[in-house]
Amino acid sequence: MTAPHRARKVILITVGCVVAVAAFSLGAVLTVGGIFVPTAYLQPWAQSYADGFTDVRMKLISQALLAPSGHNMQPWTVTLDPDDSDVLYLYADPTRLSPAVDPLARQVMVSQGTFLEYLSVSAAERGYATTFDLFPDGEYDETDLAASMSTLPVARITLAADTEATAPDYASLFRSDTNRAPYTDAALTAEQTAGLSALTETGAALQLFTDAADQTDLAAYGVEGTLIETEFAAATAESAAVFHSTEGAKNNARSGFAVEGQGTSGFMKYLLQGLITLVPSLNGDAASAKNAIAMTAAAVEHTAAYGLISTAGNTRTEQVQAGMLYAQFSLKARTLGLVMQPLSQVLQEYPTMAVPYAAVHAQYAPEGQTIQMLVRVGTPTVEYPTSMRRAATTLVHTP
Ligand SMILES: Cc1cc2nc3c(=O)[nH]c(=O)nc-3n(C[C@H](O)[C@H](O)[C@H](O)COP(=O)(O)O)c2cc1C
Repeated sequence: MTAPHRARKVILITVGCVVAVAAFSLGAVLTVGGIFVPTAYLQPWAQSYADGFTDVRMKLISQALLAPSGHNMQPWTVTLDPDDSDVLYLYADPTRLSPAVDPLARQVMVSQGTFLEYLSVSAAERGYATTFDLFPDGEYDETDLAASMSTLPVARITLAADTEATAPDYASLFRSDTNRAPYTDAALTAEQTAGLSALTETGAALQLFTDAADQTDLAAYGVEGTLIETEFAAATAESAAVFHSTEGAKNNARSGFAVEGQGTSGFMKYLLQGLITLVPSLNGDAASAKNAIAMTAAAVEHTAAYGLISTAGNTRTEQVQAGMLYAQFSLKARTLGLVMQPLSQVLQEYPTMAVPYAAVHAQYAPEGQTIQMLVRVGTPTVEYPTSMRRAATTLVHTP
């Protein structure tokens, strides 16, 4: 073999080895990231998922659980009335609380309302009207919330056949709820503003803010709240404990956070999960805090409008009603081509948040109302991936 031939052969072998090692490494990272693991945790997002149940109440539960909830904890349990096939009960699940960021369990109650609203949309699609009797067995004992949640239903839900029932937002149930990306700079159209402003719910009020001064102030609250939360160790530990970075862990938990919540999907999801699993510091406290602050800053820079949901008082019933209105708002927004993201930090009741909490209330709830949800709204730049949901049967318990 001549010298040039030998040199070319050595180059080819070297390049081949490098490519093989790179391909093997990528394959290993993707495998660790779960590319071959079935995504059972996404099953409830299929419209056909409800077909797997014969009892209509189970069909409704299987779609109500698509509702948004604080930290995606899905803090819901249900019982089916054994004597009346038109009746079921919703309970808050005291094993699924987030006490660091939600010390008064207020957001847990807002999350009961989102479940009820989703359930009513699913019921209407099937030709049923729903009646919600809130706290039918009485109010919680606030000194022993966990026991109250286990024994006192949030709602008695009664179904009644209704030929007039319609569900114009039914298709929105199956689309990702929360979009944390920057939105386009398009202002809300008159039709979108009118559609959202028309939403009503007993006990809770929705306000939309689209002018520049409010945008600046509400964006600043969003950023300040995120900064303070990232410095609150109990809050970051609480989020980290429910963050699942492998497909196996996601299939076990089917709740909490994952990389989808940062907008990552497809090939990139498996790559990122593999890297996080192999190098955990990539997702450590410092990296997560930096990421949360950067995401919020970029997000509020590109937000067409903000929504505030407030209640005159702050009773458990009002908190649930605020959640019902939030779910209506979120579903209608999607029907109208919009998406949203709650920015809950400044509404949270722990000591280091007290100053911005008081400021946002003084500015936007001057008559002493409680702001239950602060939400950014806009036209999406990207479709966000859907997040984990539990199997419907795991929500059901026998009292
Ligand atoms: C009461 C409540 C508070 C929430 N607060 C926030 C928040 O501060 N920031 C955020 O990005 N999402 C927030 N969310 C959205 C949830 O994180 C989200 O619903 C959950 O992770 C499930 O994801 P999905 O809505 O995309 O299905 C909140 C939702 C609810 C119901």
